[in-house]
Amino acid sequence: MMLPMESVRAAFPALALQDDDQPRCYFDAPAGTQVAGRVIEAMGYAMVQACANDGGLFRTSQAAGAIADHAIASAAAFFGCGDDEVIFGLNTTSLFFQMAPLIAHDWQVGDNILLTRMDHDANVSPWLQAAQARGLEVRFLEWDHETFALKLESLPDLIDARTRAVAVGHASNFLGTINDVAAVCAAARAVGAISIVDAVQSAPHLALDVAAIGCDLMAASAYKFFGPHAAILFVSRRLQGIIPPLKVRPSADVMPTRLAPGTPSFEAMAGTAAAIDHLAWLGEAAGTVSPDQPLRQRLLAGLAAAQAHETDLMRRFLDGIGAVPGVTLHGIANANRLHERVATFTFELAGKFSAEVAAALAARNMFAWQGYYYAWEPATVLGLKDRGAVRVGFTHYNSMAEVDLLLETLGQIAGS
Ligand SMILES: Cc1ncc(COP(=O)(O)O)c(C=O)c1O
Repeated sequence: MMLPMESVRAAFPALALQDDDQPRCYFDAPAGTQVAGRVIEAMGYAMVQACANDGGLFRTSQAAGAIADHAIASAAAFFGCGDDEVIFGLNTTSLFFQMAPLIAHDWQVGDNILLTRMDHDANVSPWLQAAQARGLEVRFLEWDHETFALKLESLPDLIDARTRAVAVGHASNFLGTINDVAAVCAAARAVGAISIVDAVQSAPHLALDVAAIGCDLMAASAYKFFGPHAAILFVSRRLQGIIPPLKVRPSADVMPTRLAPGTPSFEAMAGTAAAIDHLAWLGEAAGTVSPDQPLRQRLLAGLAAAQAHETDLMRRFLDGIGAVPGVTLHGIANANRLHERVATFTFELAGKFSAEVAAALAARNMFAWQGYYYAWEPATVLGLKDRGAVRVGFTHYNSMAEVDLLLETLGQIAGS
């Protein structure tokens, strides 16, 4: 199941760009990926052929409605849920902020919620603020500093009959760890708590399956999975049954309008559906699925092919990074545990500020992040909030040659 790298890279117009004869090396995927060409085309179509509000009887309005219906169906296939369990929004952070007061509407003093010390703040602050507003106790699930895994063994001490919500990240944007979110959601479900999964960092790399995970809420941001700036949210029917709607009086009290007020970005919906199509196409490109298979099946094949390629990239990076003088990697380095991580690597170089390293990489047209990327909790635990760390991420469009070039360049920066 090898990805044909030439056609995969050709699917992204931005990968062909050069500056002063230097190709661009995009290692910034955890902050936002490049956009597939079909996404740009779909958004162009939406803005030329379907530029109207939906619900009208004329051509452009009906085209906008068709885009919305298709995008909802694509997002449902992406999460493995029903079409009546998905909404679109601006980004994951605002979707979680939108949902928090609805979910918290009946929380009482004496109740508690559980968050983690590994999550991006988008999956901490919305719930933390809602809990503080209603006087709830806030508990935190810690992670092990040797294994970089959540301490799931402490769940029985942290979740009890008064736990109302549990929020956990599927993959860490700081450590790269893939968490056993099904175990966390099962513990939440056992006491009737709502379970929330932030899948922003897993969505570009793994197939999502809300039924297998057993969560009530799951978010993913399309701009991290090769699409436009937009996000999608799975809201389980169970949760829909217990939260009040967020709607204006004239809008229909059905999904998605009952939880997604106002006019959506039809162009972002079109682009998100096209990004999902791109991921499905990867399976066809790898020769493991045929184009006539249902979207969900093609997506599973596409993401499996992406994951196999990314595993090779991770192995190569981990083989080389240990040889870079003074490097400290904050995440799983064991080659036997690659299935427990995504290709997001956060590290420090001794004696160098993270901004110095990122700037040196940028000078060679290699795009990497410095700082702590809103991963407030893990950066605080590691004492890295001020100093920051360097982060590189690989995705299916990155090549082995780019990883080699990165390792060589890091070696030069470390030695300079
Ligand atoms: C794990 C994780 N969750 C949430 C977010 C926030 O997503 P958005 O920018 O769509 O609000 C990010 C962004 O980096 C992230 O990495």
